[in-house]
Amino acid sequence: MTGALEATRRTLVRFDVVERAAHWVSAAMFAVLIVTAIPLYYGSLFGLVLPRIAIEQIHLWTGVALPIPFAVAALGPWGRRLRRDVRRVNEWTRAEISWLASWGRIDIDADKFNPGQKLNAVLVAASSVVLFATGVILKWFDLFPVSWRGGATFVHDLFAWLVVVVILGHVYMALTHREALASMLRGRVSEAWAARRASRWLAEDAGETGSDSRV
Ligand code: HEM
Repeated sequence: MTGALEATRRTLVRFDVVERAAHWVSAAMFAVLIVTAIPLYYGSLFGLVLPRIAIEQIHLWTGVALPIPFAVAALGPWGRRLRRDVRRVNEWTRAEISWLASWGRIDIDADKFNPGQKLNAVLVAASSVVLFATGVILKWFDLFPVSWRGGATFVHDLFAWLVVVVILGHVYMALTHREALASMLRGRVSEAWAARRASRWLAEDAGETGSDSRV
């Protein structure tokens, strides 16, 4: 067998079951939040499927619960890989910033996530914090100064649009990069994919003593 063929057959773990569960449960919650946000934003659509009060309650409690899957996944001893990936998303090299500035046109020695994926994760996480905080103010407004209430609606709407655009971009990239999508479903990528798309991660993983990533 040639080296290239062997690298296609050999696989390594990209996402363990804890990361995949946290990702898909959060994705389902974002889908519910976005679908229920449509009639909240365009009030004339209320009553088409469910009464207004039901839509509001589903949106509110899905929002309140949004941090739970990620917190449960990250905070136990089972969250080692997830915590490590969070650290990766927060580590930026100069080359990665130049890659973004060039719209991905320069070649870099890519980490497990390319700079576009890192930026996507940062934007979704930051928007979620803002949506959570402003959502709480919208619901329990009497606990906050009057001047915050109008601002909370404006900021909630602004970040709702941002998160919708970012998530649509994320879904488009997933659908057009099938091996990356498959790794969020089944957990593994081929070594050939890692060599092409995440060479720095592959080298780092190969250097780890006792790495449990490879088959
Ligand atoms: C993907 C995330 C989210 C999106 C796209 C989204 C979008 C929206 C939109 C468009 C509205 C209508 C605002 C208006 O009247 O102009 C709304 C209202 C609201 N959202 Fe969210 N939101 C998200 C997350 C959250 C979270 C995390 C919470 C709670 C912690 C939350 C709580 C609320 C509440 C309480 C309202 C007011 C509902 C009412 O009219 O009674 N949202 N949201």
